[in-house]
Order: sequence, then C-alpha cells, then structure tokens
Amino acid sequence: MARVVGGLTTSHIPAIGNAVPREEQLVNDPYWKEFFAAYPPARAWLRQAKPDVAVVIYNDHGLNFFLDKMPTFAIGAAPKYQNADEGWGIPTIPPFEGDPELSWHIINTLVQEEFDVTSCQEMLVDHGFTVPMSLFWPGNTYQGVRTIPICINTVQHPLPSPLRCFKLGQAIGRAIESYPKDLKVVVLGTGGLSHQLDGERAGFINKKFDELCLDKIVNEPSVLTRMSIHELVREAGAQGAEFILWLAMRGVLHHRVKKVHSSYHIAISNTATGLLVLENAA
Ligand code: DHB
Ligand code: FE
Repeated sequence: MARVVGGLTTSHIPAIGNAVPREEQLVNDPYWKEFFAAYPPARAWLRQAKPDVAVVIYNDHGLNFFLDKMPTFAIGAAPKYQNADEGWGIPTIPPFEGDPELSWHIINTLVQEEFDVTSCQEMLVDHGFTVPMSLFWPGNTYQGVRTIPICINTVQHPLPSPLRCFKLGQAIGRAIESYPKDLKVVVLGTGGLSHQLDGERAGFINKKFDELCLDKIVNEPSVLTRMSIHELVREAGAQGAEFILWLAMRGVLHHRVKKVHSSYHIAISNTATGLLVLENAA
C-alpha cells in the first residue's frame, strides 16, 4: 500500500526561486546566508526518505486560475505540469512529472467523502508549487519524484476555513493510504508565514503568532484549526492566510508525528519565512 512518510512546509516567495540557482554564491551573502542555512537538514531527510511521489498543497496566485474562475479546491490529474511566465520572464525549469492514476484515486476518494474538488487534466503550476520543489530538490531533477498539485484558494474571499483545510488534508491522507501500490509519499504545504503584500498593512509581520503556529502545528493543530479565516488574516496578514495550506498538509499526516527540523527567519522580501519537516508515526 502507499504510505505517507512525512510532511514538509516552506515559504514560496518568488525571489527565492530566483536565488536558488545561485545558492552556492549566496551562502555567505548577508541577506541569504541564514535563509539557505536552514535547508540542508530538510534535503538530507528527503534523501534518506526517498519518496516516489510529492503531493504539493499550494495556492495559485493568478497563473492557472484568475478571479473570473476560482475553485476552492483543485487537483491536477495531468501527466506533466509546466510553469509559465508570471511576469518576471520565461521560466527556465523543466516540467514536473505527474502521476495521473494516483491523482484520480485521490479525486475519487475526495468526492466520495463530500469534498467536491475541481479536477484539472491540464494545469500550469506557479511559484507556490515550483519554488518549494526547487528548494527541497535543487538542480531541477527532483530525485525523480512524481507530483500531485493540490491547489487551495487563498486569493479571493470566501476562503475555506482552517478546519475545512485540515479535514481536506485528513481525507487526502486516507486516499493515499488506501492506494494499493507500494509508494512512499511526502506531502508539502507551501506559503506563509505572516505576510501582507498590499493595502494599509503592507509589510505586516507577526513573529509571536508565527512562533505559535510553528509550535502548535506539530502536536496540537486543533489550537490553530479553531481559528476563523478572518482571525487568521488579522493575525498573519492577508497573504499569511496561506497558513491554511500548512494545516492541510498537517491533516494528511497521522495524529502522532516527529518533528525532524524547523526554522524561522525574518524576512525574505516581505515575508517571515518558515520551514518545517515532520516525520509520520509508523
Ligand atoms: C511574496 C510572498 C508570497 O507568498 C508570494 O506569493 C509572492 C511574493 C513576497 O514576500 O515577496
Ligand atoms: Fe504566496
């Protein structure tokens, strides 16, 4: 049977995607040094975990879905996923491999469990997906992992609640662990932590709240899932609402998890960056 071996979360700021190919030159750069220093333990964990598939829970920021059509939950079921120009030039990364059979198994299970997701047999993936993939597996080969993009709306209200996203994650976990092939699966939750890019509170960061999130998500996610989406926006900023993607990741994992690694750094661009590696209890 397929097995979820662990979950990883990271911020997905586009500037990071731009910096990753120059990481070796930036390790002593005062701006990037501390940020990149956090990633080797996550990469080492992935090298020993050797996942076959990465389920990537992220948000589309306007590349594949725009304000005219905005699904709350969408899942890729394509053999390949391509990035495209998001306004800063044609991407230079190769497409990502999909696993349509596992995608359809997850879609079927979710709809049976009353999560009526949008299935996408064609889907462009934006920086919310590509930056974490490049950060965790630098060099554009991704250790051969196949990917399942799962997209949650964090862009246009109404957004799904933290609890709804956690429950979606639980259903995704049940779907994966009922798949009859022997696959090792990791789940990624991307985005966060606190940030607001626009409006009166542009530049808003809430370190105290981020630290609470990084702590409670490990063993007491119910402290976080009882928040409303409006409380989350107030505490984390308009784009800090991306934390619902982390909660969906946490829902996929078992009740008991082991924290392998975490890191927090203020700031890259306008965002407080967070990193977490959780191993699933056997
Ligand atoms: C930034 C952060 C994001 O989450 C994003 O999607 C785009 C930009 C930033 O801090 O620059
Ligand atoms: Fe974002």
